Amino acid sequence: MKVFITSIIPEVGIELLKKNDIEVIQNKSYLPLEKEKLIKKAKDCDALLCLLSNKIDREIIDALPNLKVISNYAVGFNNIDVEYATQKGIWVTNTPDVLTDATADLAFALLLACARRIVEADKFTREGKFKMWQSDLMLGKDLKGKTVGIIGAGRIGQAFGKRAKGFEMKILYYDKKRIQKFEEETGAKFSSLSQLLKKSDFISLHTPLTKETYHLIDKKEFNLMKDGAILINTARGEVVNEKELVNALKSGKLFSAGLDVYEFEPKITKDLLKMKNVVLLPHIGSATIETRNKMAELAANNIIRVLLGKKPLTPVNKL
Ligand code: DGY
Repeated sequence: MKVFITSIIPEVGIELLKKNDIEVIQNKSYLPLEKEKLIKKAKDCDALLCLLSNKIDREIIDALPNLKVISNYAVGFNNIDVEYATQKGIWVTNTPDVLTDATADLAFALLLACARRIVEADKFTREGKFKMWQSDLMLGKDLKGKTVGIIGAGRIGQAFGKRAKGFEMKILYYDKKRIQKFEEETGAKFSSLSQLLKKSDFISLHTPLTKETYHLIDKKEFNLMKDGAILINTARGEVVNEKELVNALKSGKLFSAGLDVYEFEPKITKDLLKMKNVVLLPHIGSATIETRNKMAELAANNIIRVLLGKKPLTPVNKL
C-alpha cells in the first residue's frame, strides 16, 4: 500500500504510516504542487495526504485509479470535491477536535490584539516613538460587558465562546441550529445574523466555507454592523468580501480587523497591508507544536484504518 503526501508534515505522522507497512512517497517542499505534478507523483497511490492549499478536484480524483482515501491535514475541507469522491467510493477525512483549542486561542489572541492595538503599539515602541506616558496613547476597547457575536458555533466557535465567557463578555451566536449545551455553558444567546451584526461589538467568524457561506459578510452585512465594531476571521477568507472589508476599515465603520485567512490566500489585498488597524497572520490557526503533531497522527490514522478495510476515525463523507 502506498500513500502520497503532498508536502512537509510532522514526522510523527510519517513514522506511524511506515510502522504500519505503508510506503510513503512525499513531496518534500512547502510549495503547493501543480496539478500535473501531483497526478504524476501520486499516480499509483492508495491514499493521499494533502493540505488545505491542495485543490483536489475531479480531474485529480479520476487520475488516481487506486485511491481509497483523501486525508486532509486540516479541519476545513473546502479544497476537496467531496461529492465526487463520494460518488467514486473514496473516503474523505479531516482533522477535527485536535485543533479546536489552538484555533480558538488564536482567534481570541486576534480579538485581544485588535481591541488593545497590540501590534500597532509594538511597532510604535520599536520605532523609538515611546517618549512619555500619555493619557490618550493607543486607546483601545474594553472587553468586559461587551457583546461578541459568534458566526458558526461548531467546535471552534464554541471553544471561542468559552474564552469570551472568561472575559465576562455577552455572547450572541448565529448557526443553523440552537445548541443547548453551549447556551448553558456560556450564557450565549441564539440570534439571527442581522440582529447579531447589529448588536455585536466584536464579531468572530467560525463557519466552514460552503456555497452558502461564500461572501456571507458582504457590503450589506458590513452596513448592518455597529460603528466601531471589530471583525475577526480565522475561518476561511472567502467568507468575507475582502473588497468590502477594506471599505469598512477605510470608512471607520470597523475599528479594526484581525485576519488569519484571506479571500485570495496566500495573496493579500494590498490596501490591507498598508492599514494600521488590521492584524494580519499567515493562516496559523492550528499552528502549535502539539496540535500540528496531533493533526499528523490523526491524518495518518485515518489512512491506516481505510487501508486496513476499516472506517476512518474522522470521515467527512458517508460511504
Ligand atoms: C484548518 O484546519 O482548516 C485550519 O484552517 C488550519 O489552520
